[in-house]
Amino acid sequence: MAILITGGAGYIGSHTCIELLEAGYEVVVVDNLSNSSHISLNRVAEITNKNFTFYKMDLMDRGGLELVFSRHSIDAVIHFAGLKAVGESVQLPLSYYYTNITSTLILCEVMNKYNVHKLVFSSSATVYGRPELSPIAEDSPLGATNPYGRTKLMLEQILQDLAASSEQWGISILRYFNPIGAHKSGKIGENPNGIPNNLMPYISQVAVGKLEKVNVFGSDYETVDGTGVRDYIHVVDLAKGHLRALEKVMGKSGVDIYNLGTGQGYSVLEMIAGFERVAGRSIPYQIAARRPGDIAVCFADTQKANAELNWTAERGIEEMCEDSWRWQSSNPNGYEENSSSVREIAAASWE
Ligand code: NAD
Ligand code: UFG
Repeated sequence: MAILITGGAGYIGSHTCIELLEAGYEVVVVDNLSNSSHISLNRVAEITNKNFTFYKMDLMDRGGLELVFSRHSIDAVIHFAGLKAVGESVQLPLSYYYTNITSTLILCEVMNKYNVHKLVFSSSATVYGRPELSPIAEDSPLGATNPYGRTKLMLEQILQDLAASSEQWGISILRYFNPIGAHKSGKIGENPNGIPNNLMPYISQVAVGKLEKVNVFGSDYETVDGTGVRDYIHVVDLAKGHLRALEKVMGKSGVDIYNLGTGQGYSVLEMIAGFERVAGRSIPYQIAARRPGDIAVCFADTQKANAELNWTAERGIEEMCEDSWRWQSSNPNGYEENSSSVREIAAASWE
Protein backbone atom coordinates (compact mmCIF):
# COMPACT_ATOMS: atom_id res chain seq x y z
CA MET A 1 0.00 0.00 0.00
CA ALA A 2 1.42 3.43 -0.97
CA ILE A 3 1.13 6.33 1.46
CA LEU A 4 1.87 9.94 0.56
CA ILE A 5 3.45 11.78 3.49
CA THR A 6 3.32 15.55 3.19
CA GLY A 7 5.91 17.22 5.43
CA GLY A 8 7.70 13.88 5.73
CA ALA A 9 11.13 15.48 6.24
CA GLY A 10 9.91 17.26 9.38
CA TYR A 11 10.08 16.19 13.00
CA ILE A 12 6.94 14.07 13.30
CA GLY A 13 6.82 13.15 9.60
CA SER A 14 10.30 11.63 9.56
CA HIS A 15 9.52 9.45 12.59
CA THR A 16 6.27 8.36 10.97
CA CYS A 17 8.10 7.45 7.74
CA ILE A 18 10.24 5.03 9.77
CA GLU A 19 7.23 3.33 11.32
CA LEU A 20 5.49 3.05 7.94
CA LEU A 21 8.56 1.68 6.16
CA GLU A 22 9.18 -0.82 8.95
CA ALA A 23 5.55 -1.94 8.71
CA GLY A 24 6.02 -2.61 4.97
CA TYR A 25 4.22 0.39 3.47
CA GLU A 26 5.45 2.06 0.31
CA VAL A 27 6.27 5.67 1.21
CA VAL A 28 6.24 8.77 -0.99
CA VAL A 29 7.32 12.03 0.67
CA VAL A 30 6.48 15.55 -0.50
CA ASP A 31 8.21 18.36 1.41
CA ASN A 32 9.49 21.78 0.38
CA LEU A 33 12.17 21.62 3.14
CA SER A 34 11.10 25.07 4.36
CA ASN A 35 11.48 23.89 7.95
CA SER A 36 13.55 20.74 7.56
CA SER A 37 16.56 19.16 5.91
CA HIS A 38 16.87 16.40 3.32
CA ILE A 39 19.37 14.86 5.72
CA SER A 40 16.52 13.67 7.93
CA LEU A 41 15.33 11.59 4.98
CA ASN A 42 18.83 10.22 4.35
CA ARG A 43 18.79 9.12 7.97
CA VAL A 44 15.34 7.52 7.61
CA ALA A 45 16.73 5.47 4.71
CA GLU A 46 19.80 4.56 6.75
CA ILE A 47 17.80 3.52 9.83
CA THR A 48 15.26 1.43 7.93
CA ASN A 49 17.49 0.23 5.10
CA LYS A 50 14.44 0.74 2.90
CA ASN A 51 13.89 2.81 -0.20
CA PHE A 52 11.26 5.45 -0.67
CA THR A 53 10.62 8.36 -2.98
CA PHE A 54 11.11 12.01 -2.11
CA TYR A 55 9.81 15.01 -4.03
CA LYS A 56 11.19 18.38 -2.98
CA MET A 57 8.03 20.24 -3.76
CA ASP A 58 5.68 22.83 -2.33
CA LEU A 59 2.15 21.56 -1.74
CA MET A 60 0.94 24.71 -3.43
CA ASP A 61 2.44 23.37 -6.68
CA ARG A 62 -0.75 21.78 -7.98
CA GLY A 63 0.84 20.58 -11.23
CA GLY A 64 3.71 18.94 -9.37
CA LEU A 65 1.33 17.29 -6.93
CA GLU A 66 -0.76 15.93 -9.78
CA LEU A 67 2.37 14.42 -11.23
CA VAL A 68 3.06 12.65 -7.94
CA PHE A 69 -0.47 11.19 -7.92
CA SER A 70 -0.19 10.14 -11.54
CA ARG A 71 3.18 8.46 -11.00
CA HIS A 72 2.29 6.58 -7.82
CA SER A 73 -0.79 4.60 -7.00
CA ILE A 74 -1.41 6.43 -3.72
CA ASP A 75 -3.86 4.73 -1.32
CA ALA A 76 -3.90 7.32 1.47
CA VAL A 77 -2.30 10.56 2.59
CA ILE A 78 -0.86 11.57 5.96
CA HIS A 79 -0.78 15.36 5.92
CA PHE A 80 1.85 16.88 8.23
CA ALA A 81 3.01 19.79 6.06
CA GLY A 82 2.30 23.25 7.37
CA LEU A 83 3.63 26.17 9.36
CA LYS A 84 3.53 25.57 13.09
CA ALA A 85 5.11 28.34 15.19
CA VAL A 86 2.53 30.04 17.40
CA GLY A 87 4.49 33.30 17.90
CA GLU A 88 5.38 33.59 14.22
CA SER A 89 1.72 33.10 13.30
CA VAL A 90 0.84 36.22 15.30
CA GLN A 91 3.46 38.18 13.31
CA LEU A 92 2.63 36.62 9.94
CA PRO A 93 -1.07 35.74 10.01
CA LEU A 94 -1.57 35.96 6.24
CA SER A 95 1.30 33.62 5.60
CA TYR A 96 -0.13 31.10 8.09
CA TYR A 97 -3.69 31.28 6.76
CA TYR A 98 -2.51 31.19 3.16
CA THR A 99 -0.03 28.34 3.52
CA ASN A 100 -1.90 26.06 5.88
CA ILE A 101 -5.35 26.47 4.37
CA THR A 102 -4.53 26.75 0.66
CA SER A 103 -2.09 23.85 0.64
CA THR A 104 -4.67 21.61 2.30
CA LEU A 105 -7.38 22.67 -0.16
CA ILE A 106 -5.09 21.92 -3.11
CA LEU A 107 -4.11 18.58 -1.60
CA CYS A 108 -7.75 17.55 -1.12
CA GLU A 109 -8.71 18.66 -4.63
CA VAL A 110 -5.88 16.68 -6.16
CA MET A 111 -6.71 13.66 -3.99
CA ASN A 112 -10.31 13.84 -5.20
CA LYS A 113 -9.20 14.10 -8.83
CA TYR A 114 -7.06 10.99 -8.45
CA ASN A 115 -9.74 9.15 -6.50
CA VAL A 116 -7.84 9.03 -3.22
CA HIS A 117 -10.15 9.70 -0.29
CA LYS A 118 -8.34 8.49 2.82
CA LEU A 119 -6.62 11.17 4.87
CA VAL A 120 -4.92 11.42 8.27
CA PHE A 121 -4.55 15.05 9.33
CA SER A 122 -2.24 16.65 11.93
CA SER A 123 -4.25 18.81 14.27
CA SER A 124 -3.26 20.02 17.70
CA ALA A 125 -4.41 20.34 21.29
CA THR A 126 -4.20 24.05 20.57
CA VAL A 127 -7.78 23.77 19.22
CA TYR A 128 -8.99 23.46 22.83
CA GLY A 129 -7.97 27.09 23.38
CA ARG A 130 -8.06 27.78 27.09
CA PRO A 131 -9.54 24.57 28.49
CA GLU A 132 -11.30 24.85 31.84
CA LEU A 133 -10.46 21.34 32.90
CA SER A 134 -8.03 18.55 32.14
CA PRO A 135 -8.15 15.73 31.10
CA ILE A 136 -9.55 17.15 27.88
CA ALA A 137 -11.85 14.90 25.84
CA GLU A 138 -12.44 15.31 22.11
CA ASP A 139 -15.91 16.77 22.65
CA SER A 140 -14.63 19.58 24.90
CA PRO A 141 -15.34 23.15 23.77
CA LEU A 142 -13.06 24.43 21.02
CA GLY A 143 -11.52 27.85 20.47
CA ALA A 144 -8.07 28.90 19.38
CA THR A 145 -6.09 31.83 20.75
CA ASN A 146 -3.73 32.57 17.83
CA PRO A 147 -3.69 32.42 14.00
CA TYR A 148 -1.84 29.07 13.94
CA GLY A 149 -4.50 27.50 16.15
CA ARG A 150 -7.25 29.04 14.06
CA THR A 151 -5.81 27.44 10.90
CA LYS A 152 -6.11 24.06 12.64
CA LEU A 153 -9.67 24.80 13.74
CA MET A 154 -10.64 25.97 10.25
CA LEU A 155 -9.03 22.96 8.62
CA GLU A 156 -10.83 20.59 10.99
CA GLN A 157 -14.09 22.25 9.92
CA ILE A 158 -13.20 22.11 6.22
CA LEU A 159 -12.37 18.41 6.49
CA GLN A 160 -15.65 17.71 8.26
CA ASP A 161 -17.57 19.54 5.51
CA LEU A 162 -15.64 17.57 2.91
CA ALA A 163 -16.45 14.25 4.54
CA ALA A 164 -20.10 15.26 4.80
CA SER A 165 -20.15 15.95 1.05
CA SER A 166 -19.43 12.39 0.00
CA GLU A 167 -19.25 9.01 1.70
CA GLN A 168 -16.08 8.27 -0.22
CA TRP A 169 -14.05 10.32 2.22
CA GLY A 170 -12.55 8.73 5.31
CA ILE A 171 -10.67 11.23 7.45
CA SER A 172 -8.87 10.93 10.75
CA ILE A 173 -8.07 14.14 12.62
CA LEU A 174 -5.34 13.66 15.22
CA ARG A 175 -4.96 16.25 17.95
CA TYR A 176 -1.40 15.99 19.23
CA PHE A 177 -0.48 17.12 22.70
CA ASN A 178 3.24 17.92 23.23
CA PRO A 179 5.49 15.70 21.10
CA ILE A 180 9.08 15.31 22.36
CA GLY A 181 11.80 12.66 22.23
CA ALA A 182 13.50 11.16 19.24
CA HIS A 183 14.19 7.87 17.50
CA LYS A 184 16.24 5.41 19.59
CA SER A 185 19.08 5.50 17.06
CA GLY A 186 19.79 9.16 17.92
CA LYS A 187 19.95 9.82 14.16
CA ILE A 188 16.74 11.82 13.78
CA GLY A 189 15.01 14.24 16.13
CA GLU A 190 13.61 17.73 16.50
CA ASN A 191 15.74 20.34 14.78
CA PRO A 192 14.27 23.80 15.34
CA ASN A 193 15.50 26.79 13.38
CA GLY A 194 17.13 29.39 15.61
CA ILE A 195 16.27 29.64 19.28
CA PRO A 196 13.67 27.02 20.18
CA ASN A 197 10.19 28.15 21.24
CA ASN A 198 9.27 24.88 22.87
CA LEU A 199 10.43 23.59 26.21
CA MET A 200 12.14 20.31 25.37
CA PRO A 201 14.41 21.53 22.55
CA TYR A 202 15.27 24.51 24.76
CA ILE A 203 16.24 22.26 27.69
CA SER A 204 18.30 20.02 25.33
CA GLN A 205 20.20 23.00 23.96
CA VAL A 206 20.97 24.24 27.46
CA ALA A 207 22.17 20.75 28.37
CA VAL A 208 24.50 20.62 25.37
CA GLY A 209 25.86 24.09 26.16
CA LYS A 210 24.35 26.02 23.22
CA LEU A 211 22.08 28.09 25.47
CA GLU A 212 22.85 29.41 28.91
CA LYS A 213 19.75 28.63 30.96
CA VAL A 214 16.09 27.76 30.67
CA ASN A 215 13.61 30.56 31.31
CA VAL A 216 10.75 29.00 33.24
CA PHE A 217 7.69 30.95 32.16
CA GLY A 218 5.77 31.51 35.38
CA SER A 219 5.93 29.88 38.81
CA ASP A 220 2.59 31.04 40.15
CA TYR A 221 0.19 28.76 38.29
CA GLU A 222 -2.14 26.54 40.29
CA THR A 223 -0.10 23.42 39.69
CA VAL A 224 2.03 21.02 41.68
CA ASP A 225 5.01 23.43 41.79
CA GLY A 226 3.58 26.58 40.22
CA THR A 227 4.95 25.89 36.72
CA GLY A 228 2.93 24.96 33.62
CA VAL A 229 1.80 21.36 33.20
CA ARG A 230 1.63 19.63 29.81
CA ASP A 231 1.04 16.20 28.33
CA TYR A 232 4.38 15.28 26.73
CA ILE A 233 4.21 12.36 24.31
CA HIS A 234 7.12 10.47 22.79
CA VAL A 235 7.28 11.16 19.04
CA VAL A 236 7.61 7.42 18.31
CA ASP A 237 4.37 6.71 20.19
CA LEU A 238 2.81 9.54 18.21
CA ALA A 239 4.11 8.09 14.93
CA LYS A 240 2.68 4.68 15.84
CA GLY A 241 -0.68 6.36 16.50
CA HIS A 242 -0.68 7.43 12.83
CA LEU A 243 -0.40 3.82 11.71
CA ARG A 244 -3.37 2.84 13.86
CA ALA A 245 -5.36 5.81 12.51
CA LEU A 246 -4.41 4.86 8.96
CA GLU A 247 -5.55 1.27 9.43
CA LYS A 248 -8.85 2.52 10.82
CA VAL A 249 -9.48 5.10 8.12
CA MET A 250 -8.90 2.61 5.29
CA GLY A 251 -12.00 0.71 6.31
CA LYS A 252 -14.50 3.47 6.98
CA SER A 253 -15.95 6.75 5.84
CA GLY A 254 -16.67 9.97 7.71
CA VAL A 255 -14.48 11.87 10.16
CA ASP A 256 -13.04 10.64 13.43
CA ILE A 257 -11.17 12.88 15.84
CA TYR A 258 -8.65 11.53 18.34
CA ASN A 259 -6.45 13.03 21.02
CA LEU A 260 -2.93 11.63 20.95
CA GLY A 261 -1.31 12.15 24.33
CA THR A 262 -0.36 10.08 27.35
CA GLY A 263 -3.07 11.36 29.67
CA GLN A 264 -0.43 12.44 32.19
CA GLY A 265 0.77 15.94 32.91
CA TYR A 266 4.27 17.03 33.94
CA SER A 267 5.39 20.46 35.11
CA VAL A 268 8.26 22.45 33.64
CA LEU A 269 10.38 21.82 36.73
CA GLU A 270 9.62 18.09 36.60
CA MET A 271 10.78 18.04 32.98
CA ILE A 272 14.00 19.85 33.85
CA ALA A 273 14.65 17.44 36.73
CA GLY A 274 13.89 14.44 34.50
CA PHE A 275 16.33 15.69 31.88
CA GLU A 276 19.02 16.33 34.48
CA ARG A 277 18.71 12.72 35.68
CA VAL A 278 19.20 11.15 32.25
CA ALA A 279 21.84 13.58 31.01
CA GLY A 280 23.77 13.40 34.29
CA ARG A 281 24.32 17.15 34.37
CA SER A 282 22.57 20.10 35.89
CA ILE A 283 20.35 22.31 33.75
CA PRO A 284 20.52 25.93 34.93
CA TYR A 285 17.19 27.73 34.93
CA GLN A 286 15.63 30.94 36.14
CA ILE A 287 12.03 31.82 36.87
CA ALA A 288 10.74 34.34 34.33
CA ALA A 289 7.41 36.05 33.72
CA ARG A 290 4.47 34.06 32.40
CA ARG A 291 4.44 33.74 28.61
CA PRO A 292 1.40 35.55 27.21
CA GLY A 293 -1.27 33.14 26.04
CA ASP A 294 -0.01 30.17 28.10
CA ILE A 295 -2.39 28.10 30.17
CA ALA A 296 -1.68 26.42 33.50
CA VAL A 297 -2.57 22.82 32.75
CA CYS A 298 -3.29 20.82 29.61
CA PHE A 299 -3.43 17.04 29.35
CA ALA A 300 -5.43 14.62 27.28
CA ASP A 301 -8.26 12.24 27.89
CA THR A 302 -6.98 9.43 25.67
CA GLN A 303 -9.81 6.93 26.14
CA LYS A 304 -11.19 7.34 22.63
CA ALA A 305 -7.86 6.62 20.91
CA ASN A 306 -7.16 3.78 23.37
CA ALA A 307 -10.51 2.12 22.63
CA GLU A 308 -11.09 2.85 18.94
CA LEU A 309 -7.54 2.84 17.60
CA ASN A 310 -6.27 0.20 20.00
CA TRP A 311 -3.40 2.56 20.68
CA THR A 312 -1.79 3.71 23.93
CA ALA A 313 1.36 5.75 24.41
CA GLU A 314 3.90 3.40 25.97
CA ARG A 315 7.00 5.51 26.55
CA GLY A 316 7.41 7.42 29.79
CA ILE A 317 9.11 10.69 30.64
CA GLU A 318 12.46 9.04 31.35
CA GLU A 319 12.60 7.50 27.88
CA MET A 320 11.45 10.75 26.27
CA CYS A 321 14.27 12.68 27.97
CA GLU A 322 16.84 9.94 27.28
CA ASP A 323 16.01 9.87 23.57
CA SER A 324 15.93 13.68 23.26
CA TRP A 325 19.33 13.78 24.92
CA ARG A 326 20.83 11.06 22.70
CA TRP A 327 19.68 12.97 19.59
CA GLN A 328 20.85 16.37 20.88
CA SER A 329 24.23 15.20 22.22
CA SER A 330 25.11 13.28 19.07
CA ASN A 331 23.87 16.10 16.78
CA PRO A 332 24.61 19.31 18.72
CA ASN A 333 24.06 21.38 15.58
CA GLY A 334 21.18 19.38 14.19
CA TYR A 335 21.31 18.14 10.61
CA GLU A 336 24.64 19.51 9.48
CA GLU A 337 25.50 19.04 5.84
CA ASN A 338 28.82 17.34 6.56
CA SER A 339 27.27 15.04 9.14
CA SER A 340 25.04 13.44 6.54
CA SER A 341 25.28 9.74 6.05
CA VAL A 342 26.88 8.62 2.82
CA ARG A 343 23.78 6.77 1.79
CA GLU A 344 21.49 8.77 -0.46
CA ILE A 345 17.74 8.33 -0.41
CA ALA A 346 16.37 6.50 -3.39
CA ALA A 347 15.00 9.81 -4.49
CA ALA A 348 13.10 10.79 -7.55
CA SER A 349 13.87 14.32 -6.55
CA TRP A 350 11.68 16.95 -8.10
CA GLU A 351 13.07 20.39 -8.75
P1 NAD B 1 7.90 20.36 11.06
O1 NAD B 1 8.00 21.81 10.72
O2 NAD B 1 9.11 19.68 11.59
O3 NAD B 1 7.36 19.54 9.79
C1 NAD B 1 6.50 20.12 8.83
C2 NAD B 1 7.11 19.88 7.47
O4 NAD B 1 6.28 20.44 6.47
C3 NAD B 1 8.50 20.53 7.31
O5 NAD B 1 9.41 19.54 6.87
C4 NAD B 1 8.29 21.61 6.26
O6 NAD B 1 9.44 21.80 5.46
C5 NAD B 1 7.10 21.07 5.50
N1 NAD B 1 6.27 22.09 4.84
C6 NAD B 1 5.76 23.23 5.39
N2 NAD B 1 5.03 23.90 4.47
C7 NAD B 1 5.05 23.16 3.33
C8 NAD B 1 4.49 23.32 2.03
N3 NAD B 1 3.74 24.39 1.73
N4 NAD B 1 4.74 22.38 1.10
C9 NAD B 1 5.49 21.31 1.39
N5 NAD B 1 6.06 21.09 2.60
C10 NAD B 1 5.84 22.01 3.55
O7 NAD B 1 6.69 20.19 12.09
P2 NAD B 1 6.26 18.94 12.97
O8 NAD B 1 6.56 19.25 14.39
O9 NAD B 1 6.75 17.67 12.38
O10 NAD B 1 4.68 19.06 12.81
C11 NAD B 1 3.97 18.33 11.82
C12 NAD B 1 2.51 18.72 11.88
O11 NAD B 1 2.01 18.48 13.21
C13 NAD B 1 2.23 20.20 11.59
O12 NAD B 1 1.05 20.29 10.85
C14 NAD B 1 2.03 20.79 12.97
O13 NAD B 1 1.19 21.92 12.94
C15 NAD B 1 1.39 19.64 13.73
N6 NAD B 1 1.61 19.70 15.19
C16 NAD B 1 2.89 19.76 15.68
C17 NAD B 1 3.09 19.85 17.06
C18 NAD B 1 4.47 19.95 17.62
O14 NAD B 1 4.60 20.37 18.79
N7 NAD B 1 5.53 19.56 16.92
C19 NAD B 1 1.99 19.87 17.93
C20 NAD B 1 0.71 19.78 17.39
C21 NAD B 1 0.53 19.69 16.01
N1 UFG C 1 8.10 26.81 28.74
C1 UFG C 1 9.04 27.41 29.55
N2 UFG C 1 10.18 27.88 28.96
C2 UFG C 1 10.42 27.77 27.63
C3 UFG C 1 9.45 27.15 26.81
C4 UFG C 1 8.31 26.68 27.40
O1 UFG C 1 8.85 27.54 30.76
O2 UFG C 1 11.47 28.22 27.16
C5 UFG C 1 6.88 26.25 29.37
C6 UFG C 1 5.60 26.86 28.84
O3 UFG C 1 5.25 28.02 29.57
C7 UFG C 1 4.63 25.69 29.06
C8 UFG C 1 5.49 24.45 28.84
O4 UFG C 1 6.84 24.89 29.05
O5 UFG C 1 4.15 25.68 30.37
C9 UFG C 1 5.38 23.85 27.44
O6 UFG C 1 5.61 24.89 26.47
P1 UFG C 1 5.86 24.53 24.93
O7 UFG C 1 6.14 25.82 24.24
O8 UFG C 1 6.86 23.45 24.81
O9 UFG C 1 4.47 23.91 24.48
P2 UFG C 1 3.00 24.52 24.49
O10 UFG C 1 2.15 23.60 25.30
O11 UFG C 1 2.99 25.94 24.84
O12 UFG C 1 2.59 24.44 22.95
C10 UFG C 1 2.91 23.32 22.11
C11 UFG C 1 3.01 23.80 20.67
C12 UFG C 1 1.66 24.25 20.19
C13 UFG C 1 0.66 23.16 20.39
C14 UFG C 1 0.64 22.72 21.83
C15 UFG C 1 -0.28 21.54 21.99
O13 UFG C 1 3.95 24.86 20.55
O14 UFG C 1 1.72 24.53 18.82
O15 UFG C 1 1.95 22.33 22.24
O16 UFG C 1 0.05 20.55 21.08
F1 UFG C 1 -0.56 23.62 20.05
